[in-house]
Amino acid sequence: MSGREDERIDWGDLDPAPLPRKTRPMNILLVGSGGREHALAWKIARSPLLRRMVAAPGNPGMAGICETRPVKATDVDGLVALAGEMAADLVVVGPESALEVGLADRLAEVGIPCFGPTAAAARLETSKAFSKDFFARHGMPTAAYGVFEAADAAAVFLDTLSPPFVIKADGLAAGKGVIIAQTRAEADAAVADMLGGRFGAAGARVVIEEFMPGEEASFFALCDGETAIPFGAAQDHKRAYDGDLGPNTGGMGTYSPAPVFTDALAQQAFETCILPAVRGMAAEGNPYRGVLYAGLMLDPERGPRLVEFNARFGDPECQVLMLRLESDILPYLLAAATGTLSRLPPPVWRDEAALCVVMAADGYPESPVSGAIIRGAQADFGDATVVFQAGTASDPDGTLRAAGGRVLNVCASGETLGAARDAAYAAVADIDFPGGFCRSDIGWRAL
Ligand code: AMP
Ligand code: GLY
Repeated sequence: MSGREDERIDWGDLDPAPLPRKTRPMNILLVGSGGREHALAWKIARSPLLRRMVAAPGNPGMAGICETRPVKATDVDGLVALAGEMAADLVVVGPESALEVGLADRLAEVGIPCFGPTAAAARLETSKAFSKDFFARHGMPTAAYGVFEAADAAAVFLDTLSPPFVIKADGLAAGKGVIIAQTRAEADAAVADMLGGRFGAAGARVVIEEFMPGEEASFFALCDGETAIPFGAAQDHKRAYDGDLGPNTGGMGTYSPAPVFTDALAQQAFETCILPAVRGMAAEGNPYRGVLYAGLMLDPERGPRLVEFNARFGDPECQVLMLRLESDILPYLLAAATGTLSRLPPPVWRDEAALCVVMAADGYPESPVSGAIIRGAQADFGDATVVFQAGTASDPDGTLRAAGGRVLNVCASGETLGAARDAAYAAVADIDFPGGFCRSDIGWRAL
């Protein structure tokens, strides 16, 4: 959505007052170490309201723009101590793993504003059973489903559905806990596999869903416990290989805007999915603060339906949103954390497209090979191209190596999506990473 198009959104009871003119400079603790966090750091670093930024644990790319400290995203004690020591005005949480272990709860106890929901509110992502029941309680559009702890009850529910079948582990399984079974035999095997412990505790309960046809879109809203504002949309390529083939991944590439996700659909999704979620969570005593990421299925006949909520920015959706966001991000992050979003005007987006190509380590997603040398990722690619680091490590001599599944996020903006794609792939061609691969068709649906 461009700034101009955004004005067509009905802002409900939001008061579009100007930004507070003299917010004092802030100390920011940014939690996480992936490409999403590198992109957030890149954008936050541009804020005139920033005094000091520390990333924990950060990555070699982030180390080029802020301080980094070797405190893990799930080390709640370590992070709370670090936030206190640096007199953080705001803690910005990237990954859901930190939310699930209660980082926001602990920061609330010590009075430090946190961009990211409490563990109870983050269950919108961290427990599929909780979120599906929540959708049902609040009449939100989604697939028919059942939650099961035993195979025989699951089989009875499967009898009521027709293929393909969607089988999910209840808990967090890093994007790998979803199986789309084409046959009943595959579905029964997936249920047995999950209940049999293949995903550990995450699979102690399985969610079985009706299959929703359509195209997917990622829609983001900032929430402050009471209100929400739309905060951009993107489309992701979840499959590992060209043509949307191969295993599911955390995302191999993104682009924004997503032409299929029209302003009318955004408005509809905001009213049928986002607002009921924020109001429902508040009414149930778990006010939701942070970014709410709605994974939507766009069915031409039924409109947008929820696949899932996530309690964080998408990765690599965040990367293209940060390239397109014209407004200073810090006032928005702070307002979401402190319940003052209604004081801010709608964010302004550049009238440009942005596209991100993920370079992954060979073997991703099943068994990515670490250690391969990367050359040329830190070159100057011009103003319109940025390479965010996702899974990298740096030798003492500065040599950059692959240290994760998704390694680099090569991002570019352009007047058109085609121009953004060409710029991103030109940078990909200049990066020497023989131990990695990327898709060559990011953006194909929109181009
Ligand atoms: P999730 O982890 O719930 O986001 O699911 C991962 C992917 O599986 C989604 O991005 C969709 O592509 C697909 N998926 C999940 N649930 C459904 C559904 N009910 N119908 C169709 N596709 C689905
Ligand atoms: N790119 C999809 C996700 O962040 O879940």
